[in-house]
Amino acid sequence: MYKIVEKKDLAPNIVSMDILAPRVANSAQPGQFVIVIVDEAGERIPLTICNYDKEKGTVNIVIQAMGSSTKKIAALNEGDYLKDFVGPLGRPSDYVNADIEEVKKQRVLFVAGGVGAAPVYPQARWFHEHGIGVDVIIGAKTKELIILEDEMREVAANVYIATDDGSYGFNGMVTGLMEELIVNQGKEYDLVVAIGPMIMMKFVCLLTKKLGIKTIVSLNPIMVDGTGMCGACRVTVGNETKFACVDGPEFDGHLVDFDEALKRLAQYREEELELAKRGEE
Ligand code: FES
Repeated sequence: MYKIVEKKDLAPNIVSMDILAPRVANSAQPGQFVIVIVDEAGERIPLTICNYDKEKGTVNIVIQAMGSSTKKIAALNEGDYLKDFVGPLGRPSDYVNADIEEVKKQRVLFVAGGVGAAPVYPQARWFHEHGIGVDVIIGAKTKELIILEDEMREVAANVYIATDDGSYGFNGMVTGLMEELIVNQGKEYDLVVAIGPMIMMKFVCLLTKKLGIKTIVSLNPIMVDGTGMCGACRVTVGNETKFACVDGPEFDGHLVDFDEALKRLAQYREEELELAKRGEE
């Protein structure tokens, strides 16, 4: 059993929870995820790791209450327990094990859509801890759905906000703000890391391909059980078939067949779709 030691509301239907899980906290790295099982009857829910504190032994997760299981998790309170909390799973982001001197030369832009800000945060923090300032775009439909802005400002060199309805920051999609920064203002990046809804990542990749900027995406939204068994996260990357939960979740976005992955997502029944999206809209 894994205790919820802190719970915070981040936005309507979006909560943040610190879970006491010292072994997971101790080995967690940016890019990885956990599988949460709420109770005996609960399904396996893959959730990205938002933060981890090795000293306290806690792991922070962000949950958007959409399907029945995520609603059940979000309804729990401090002092309650999760039946299972398995991880860290998935491969850490490439830069974690790369030559740090090479990583330091990269000018990096993170693009976070909706609760995609949660998995972006530990990555921006990792760069900050290694003395590298990164830029971050956080996008959401409205101002009230922008999450982790203050936390991101503490670890990023620049944070830019975009809302679809113009209620805060740039008025429009994250791709519009990227064009504003890169094309109009002349900002230069060597790497873009995009994490958010599949459709957002697809359009970020179309833009960065045009601009010639290497792009990494995290295919968390298509994971269902996170075990490598259900096949829901099967995706074509280049000419190869990959499983997001085992081979990823991060891939070269310019090689991902988004249309095929989006088609498969659409085939799932409503509840499975909610699980697959896992609150990343
Ligand atoms: Fe089921 Fe990857 S999420 S196989």
